[in-house]
Amino acid sequence: MWTKQTLRETIASRMEGYKLIIASNRQPFHHMLKAGKLICQREPGGVVTALHPVMQASSGTWIAAASTDYDRQTVDSQNKVKVPPDNPAYTLRRLFIPKMERDAYYFGYANQGLWPLCHIVYTRPVFRQAEWEAYQRVNRIFAQAIMEEAVGEKAFVWAHDFHLALVAQYLKEMGCQNIVTSLFWHIPWPNPEVFRICPQKKEILEGLLAYDLLGFQIRYHADNFFKSVDSELESRIDRETDTVNYQNRQTLIRAFPISVDFDGIGKKTEIPAAQAAMERLKEELDLGGRKLILGIDRIDYTKGLPEKVRAIDRFLEKYPDYKQKFVFLQIGQISRLHVQRYKQLNDELNGLVEEVNWKHAEDSWKPVHLTRAYFSYDDILVLYRMADICIVSSLHDGMNLVAKEFVSARTDESGVLMLSSFTGAARELTDALLMNPYDIESFADTLAQGLVMPEEEKQKRMRKMREAVSSRNIYHWAGKVLSQLLRFEFQEV
Ligand code: G6P
Repeated sequence: MWTKQTLRETIASRMEGYKLIIASNRQPFHHMLKAGKLICQREPGGVVTALHPVMQASSGTWIAAASTDYDRQTVDSQNKVKVPPDNPAYTLRRLFIPKMERDAYYFGYANQGLWPLCHIVYTRPVFRQAEWEAYQRVNRIFAQAIMEEAVGEKAFVWAHDFHLALVAQYLKEMGCQNIVTSLFWHIPWPNPEVFRICPQKKEILEGLLAYDLLGFQIRYHADNFFKSVDSELESRIDRETDTVNYQNRQTLIRAFPISVDFDGIGKKTEIPAAQAAMERLKEELDLGGRKLILGIDRIDYTKGLPEKVRAIDRFLEKYPDYKQKFVFLQIGQISRLHVQRYKQLNDELNGLVEEVNWKHAEDSWKPVHLTRAYFSYDDILVLYRMADICIVSSLHDGMNLVAKEFVSARTDESGVLMLSSFTGAARELTDALLMNPYDIESFADTLAQGLVMPEEEKQKRMRKMREAVSSRNIYHWAGKVLSQLLRFEFQEV
């Protein structure tokens, strides 16, 4: 079984003399000003959740885009800062990408083009030529920084997600030597009928096939990728070895289901400080003796947030006896607000929450508490522990790490996970209450089922889910990817 320790040992013994360079758009920590003081906060999202513990075990360099005005004040002359602040374990190198460029690459091509293209949730992707050009330029900026970090050493470059499809290709063009490159695609890969509408489909596929190793969350996404390559490029696909040969080079394509730091999370929820935080949060949330139904998501149209609120509404219509007996707390982490669709979603949610609360409120009780406040990671873990039910209702999701974090936090083997069947996590967590978030009627009924579930059944299900996450934890994921990378030969370009 992989643990933080075995990953550390593997890295120490087998990666000695090699450098590990991680690249992602989102940085793990940002700096900001609070009450006149510079503070360092952890960023939300699946990539950070997964990679932070890996980097802690490997002490490599993480290259990512800066995200606040204060990020510049805390880096050294090479734009580097050691993180996390309380226990520095690895180096973060920040890229200061000009605002216009970043807007076009991130808010434009990545989040209005590729994101809706890959998540089948009926939000139409938009591809603009100028934004595609910015996407290419920013990928070059990443490649340049990676090359500077890799110079004179044998390096494993591990890039992340749909923002960085072209980095390996540019590294090759720049003549970067002695590197083995890999990219992990954290989001779904759509079927070829969907992918083919992308005007830059050929360039994206060619960019991805410049990597030595491509990772997807589940086999189904990898299969979709093979099919896209098959329909768009003249290549040789070998399904026996999971490889694509294109223009005299080979790419290995595999599924590596991403996970979380199962043991680390469990331990954090057991310490006395967690107990104290629990009491504080109970008061702050004014829970009384009520049950807590919890949701934690970025406010994103893929997460099925309006569907959750509608399900609560329907649940109260069908089961009015539950009035006053629970609180549904939805923590919504603000995300990509400069994209119109996200603004719309925020407005829609505000209206919906008000409507449902107005309809069902009694005395000072209201069913839905939507908050966009920042919660520390430790508080989030405590909330998982306090929840009677955690709802993950994504309409489409590569994996979904909230589901796996919830399970990891439940060392008490209690709590109910309601999980959308359209998440990668649903393939492993088959003992969750699986549901279709589009089907509000059965969503409401599943909620009722969760609320009356006997303790024994909760335990039985939670135990099985904990076994699944415990053995396929984040170190297992990273260990599998790194072991695979170590099998490649370093070649001069
Ligand atoms: C998803 C994506 C990540 C992204 C995260 C947060 O998990 O796969 O690449 O970092 O969402 O989104 P954001 O746009 O705020 O970085």
